[in-house]
Amino acid sequence: MTYSRIAGTGSYLPQKILSNADLERLVDTTDEWIFARTGIRQRHIASEGECSSDLALHASEQAILAAGIDRHQIDLIIVATTTPDRIFPSTACLLQHKLAIAGCPAFDIQAVCSGFVYALATADQFIKSGAAKCALVVGAETISRITDYSDRSNCILWGDGAGAVILQAGEEPGIISSHLHADGKYNELLCVSGGVSQKESKPAIQTEGNAVFKIAENTLDAIVDETLGANGMEKAHIDWLVPHQANIRIIQATAKKLGMGMDRVVLTVDRHGNTSAASIPLALAVAVRDGRIKRGATILMEAFGGGFTWGSVLIKY
Ligand code: COA
Repeated sequence: MTYSRIAGTGSYLPQKILSNADLERLVDTTDEWIFARTGIRQRHIASEGECSSDLALHASEQAILAAGIDRHQIDLIIVATTTPDRIFPSTACLLQHKLAIAGCPAFDIQAVCSGFVYALATADQFIKSGAAKCALVVGAETISRITDYSDRSNCILWGDGAGAVILQAGEEPGIISSHLHADGKYNELLCVSGGVSQKESKPAIQTEGNAVFKIAENTLDAIVDETLGANGMEKAHIDWLVPHQANIRIIQATAKKLGMGMDRVVLTVDRHGNTSAASIPLALAVAVRDGRIKRGATILMEAFGGGFTWGSVLIKY
């Protein structure tokens, strides 16, 4: 039996920081309100001309180095992004070119904040089936480009960044299981106004935050049960929770469900904000780099996002 395992992680954050104090100058809000309701203090913002593929490149180079592979070994590239550089070619193809490799399949996945979980689960299927041996899986976002900085109801949430992993074939897991879901009937609760087919001159994120919050909390509660149940595991078997970083209160609810102290939850939302598809690989890379996550640890990753989409990946690191 072939499994896939994470061989290396990488991350990248743009230099510019947008603090809550900066946002106080743009909209009617306060640092106290933002921190109390979301857990966010600051977020990073891509500079003009800096695109999702540029952020993805930095994160990928770090992951390649950490995995100790030659980039020419990569035989699959998947980029999860809601904010591709262009409508086409895909950001994965642009990244492939920037990495100066060619030939392997490269494509984007769009599942908004669940994008990385979707991408990792997809790459896992390629590896398990023997179709790939060494996949580069990236979450990269310049979500600031579709943020309306006059709309206080959600402009306080978002940040830019990228995270990447190298996923390699191995004889032991690795990825233990993945669980993906979607329900399109909720599409209006968290969406971008218009786009290509449905024209809109300046697309921007719109969300009914409170409704999204409640559904996210309940849905993530259920995905914990589904993931543990599918593997006959107990809560105590999970060493680390690496959640999508949307709101600290949603993360605290999932940790409570798992009976976990917050010291076993990787938190970046305070410094990164919600970086959509980039948030999980960014958080994973941070905790691997600072030594908290070690080889052999059992990690639950979970996410919820526009669509709605949601999912989890359970791994032995
Ligand atoms: N600063 C100050 N006040 C604000 C504000 C801001 N930036 N944004 C909204 N408010 C006000 C509202 O107008 C409302 O005022 P009212 O009571 O006088 O009507 C009050 O704060 C409460 O608004 P509400 O939307 O109920 O707040 P909340 O506790 O639900 O927090 C979010 C709002 C957006 C932080 C929270 O709902 C959230 O994180 N939701 C999920 C976000 C999401 O969509 N994530 C993506 C999925 S991954």
